Amino acid sequence: MSINYSERIPNNVDLASNKSLQRALEHWQPEYLNWWGEMGPEESQHMEIYLRTAVSVDAKGWANFGYVKMPDYRWGIFLAERDPNRKVNFGAHKGEGAWQEVPGEYRSTLRRLIVTQGDTEPASVEQQRHLGLTCPSQYDLRNLFQVNVEEGRHLWAMVYLLHAYFGRDGREEAEALLERRSGDANNPRILGAFNEKTPDWLAFFMFTFFTDRDGKYQLCSLAESGFDPLARTCRFMLTEEAHHMFVGESGVGRVIQRTCDVMNQLKTDDVERIRAAGVIDLPTIQRYLNFHFSVTMDLFGSDVSSNAATFYTNGLKGRFDETKRSDDHVLAGQTYPVLEIQGDKLAVVNAPALNALNEQLRDDYVKDAVAGIDRWNRIIEKAGVPARLHAPHKAFNRKIGPLSASKIDPDGHVVSEADWTHRHRAWLPTEEDRAFVASLMGRVTEPGRFANWIAPPARGINNQPVEFEYVRFN
Ligand SMILES: [Fe+2]
Ligand SMILES: [Fe+2]
Repeated sequence: MSINYSERIPNNVDLASNKSLQRALEHWQPEYLNWWGEMGPEESQHMEIYLRTAVSVDAKGWANFGYVKMPDYRWGIFLAERDPNRKVNFGAHKGEGAWQEVPGEYRSTLRRLIVTQGDTEPASVEQQRHLGLTCPSQYDLRNLFQVNVEEGRHLWAMVYLLHAYFGRDGREEAEALLERRSGDANNPRILGAFNEKTPDWLAFFMFTFFTDRDGKYQLCSLAESGFDPLARTCRFMLTEEAHHMFVGESGVGRVIQRTCDVMNQLKTDDVERIRAAGVIDLPTIQRYLNFHFSVTMDLFGSDVSSNAATFYTNGLKGRFDETKRSDDHVLAGQTYPVLEIQGDKLAVVNAPALNALNEQLRDDYVKDAVAGIDRWNRIIEKAGVPARLHAPHKAFNRKIGPLSASKIDPDGHVVSEADWTHRHRAWLPTEEDRAFVASLMGRVTEPGRFANWIAPPARGINNQPVEFEYVRFN
């Protein structure tokens, strides 16, 4: 299953054998490049960047490193290999052969799922487009651009499905994916978190840790889909998503490392002194964490959702690790605990498991995110600093679902509006926090040099040294 790079659109789906599909995608390609030019990374057209490009979809062959100018990046269409024996593994169609075509009755639901996933990919590129101007190092700049080109490719993946399986509606949706704009009041991206700003590098690292991890959980659920082309597309995307989360986790980890080093040098935990030394104090890191965590919680959707039940029962979207679970994969009559606001308290109530699938995916995600926060805490612990970071309660600062009806603090207590007003500045980044972090953002472009507020990584990319020339500025 190697990828044919001699074609205008590199692919492993034998695009040449389907001329009308090939023509449709070749028509979309220049529109995509226009979008990249307008909304992709700022002032990056002439830089040569040490990027990886997929060369095949098997375990070892898919990462090939070399210098590329981003507009010349070979975006293409790569699906994981087909398993001819694959079945629909859950829901009412459990046991049927996996679908190679879209079942007519599920067409619009499936299209909506694909469009919603696809919309997040260009959105994050738009959110991150200014960051290159304030990169803390060449190494980090390269990682940012790697994430960006791969999100571009994820858009291609979804657009391929729309073009190949959804006819004219699919082509129209593919165009609309290039027309919406992150944060645009009139024509926003579909999901809330993807209309927030990513104004600085701490926000970027938090975003790739928390929000790309939501991507992982959504893709894992879609990789279980009975619609086989969607499952195969998502399985390949997951290999790339892992790097995005690495960028986030190691990025925040390096910020924490640097802060702890300075705290030890100065023998202080005084926020003003720490800030005066040009590093980001741990309480500010905690507030950024709270913000990105809570915004990402909302991406999983309403706690109790009949849509989630429909997606599952129809075999379109499974659970995380669906095929590794040892239950009946139908879930009829089963229950799952969800939270409800009762008076001035959160209460646990049992909902039908099928309707609580969003909540279950959110819980699976929280476990994974908390494990990552624990790894950050080990850095703090090793430095001998007594502070710790914490995941806020999953009900904190929610904007959708029934939990958004009340104000809930990071410990999961329902608080009054007045309480929230008085105390939210301790919980979420303030204007001052953001202005302070922004004031640290400079632009460091010399190989091997790093901005003062972040520690260098332990090692470079693809076994290259940390001081390697990851970006050639032409
Ligand atoms: Fe993505
Ligand atoms: Fe990603």
